[in-house]
Amino acid sequence: MTILVTGAAGFIGYHLSKKLLEANHQVIGVDNINTYYSTELKYARLEQLGVAEVDAAIEGIECSSERYPNFKFIQLELSDAASVKQLFKKYTFDKVCHLAAQAGVRYSIENPEVYIQSNLVAFGHLLEAVRHNAVDHFIYASSSSVYGETKEVPFSVDQRVDHPISLYAATKKANELMAHTYSHLYGIATTGLRFFTVYGPWGRPDMAYYLFTKAILKGEPIKVFNNGEMRRDFTYIDDITEGVQHVIEQSTQGREHYKIYNIGNSKAENLADFIEILEKHLGKTAHKILLPMQPGDVSQTFADVRELQKDYGYAPSTTIDEGLKQFASWYLKTKIG
Ligand SMILES: NC(=O)c1ccc[n+]([C@@H]2O[C@H](COP(=O)([O-])OP(=O)(O)OC[C@H]3O[C@@H](n4cnc5c(N)ncnc54)[C@H](O)[C@@H]3O)[C@@H](O)[C@H]2O)c1
Repeated sequence: MTILVTGAAGFIGYHLSKKLLEANHQVIGVDNINTYYSTELKYARLEQLGVAEVDAAIEGIECSSERYPNFKFIQLELSDAASVKQLFKKYTFDKVCHLAAQAGVRYSIENPEVYIQSNLVAFGHLLEAVRHNAVDHFIYASSSSVYGETKEVPFSVDQRVDHPISLYAATKKANELMAHTYSHLYGIATTGLRFFTVYGPWGRPDMAYYLFTKAILKGEPIKVFNNGEMRRDFTYIDDITEGVQHVIEQSTQGREHYKIYNIGNSKAENLADFIEILEKHLGKTAHKILLPMQPGDVSQTFADVRELQKDYGYAPSTTIDEGLKQFASWYLKTKIG
């Protein structure tokens, strides 16, 4: 299969690309390599995919991989309609896995415009491209944040999610609605995956576990919001990419055109326990500063993943102890980001 992975220099996009390449698919990875967090880390991920020369590349130019002959990377701005059209003119994709987005809940409070461009405008361009080209399946990243302050746990895709509490969450919910329209009007198979706090090696430096790790190792205090009264469904990256790979590889025949799934670990962990396990694997104790809740943040997430289990055999298996061990040992080796 030829698969377009957007956000390929990002955390999940990098891991997914690698997994698909190792399964012998053709992967075209695109990313604008924005500066929201360390571009050094984004380039280092691309280097792991065998792409060594991206910083010299002009936008829109195809870069080959020294490690994977079945991989091409293109630096590209997806909110630019002409660039997206050009991309779909040049390549024929069987599947599109759209992961590129402006992530981060807190950042969306200060920087709404970039969310409009990257999460709404770019999403619209991709739907149009999928509509006008023979793409078999459009798979895209949604988020647990669409559940807002829903109290009923575990979160089920059957619950109504009409009260997002950050612009980030609102854009993800909007993506689901836009996909619904395209599935309905044009019969396009779309699958939205609501990711639940994904962590692991080559992760995102803006996320709490990464910030905690850096601070703990430097002997600096860590900020623990809502006085630590948080529960999160932390999901290890390999469990996520395995689940996404199943969705990509399996046929769309006989399935509903429009689907949304939760993809999480299906365990709500206490933030305090998470920090304790991280301390153990870093071999250092955290100095915690307890702070009130941040605007836009939710106090708990917990995924009901039975649908994905039933339809695609999704079976997350990594405990936070094992997952944090992997993350800590990777970070201690690379100290990147
Ligand atoms: N990591 C998580 O815990 C998590 C949780 C819920 C949802 N998600 C969603 O999963 C997806 C992947 O997340 P991630 O953690 O890998 O984030 P990431 O920021 O590491 O990756 C996203 C990539 O997209 C690229 N990008 C952003 N805007 C772009 C644009 N306009 N054109 C081209 N490229 C662009 C960025 O440069 C980045 O490399 C995102 O859609 C995110 O919202 C992630």
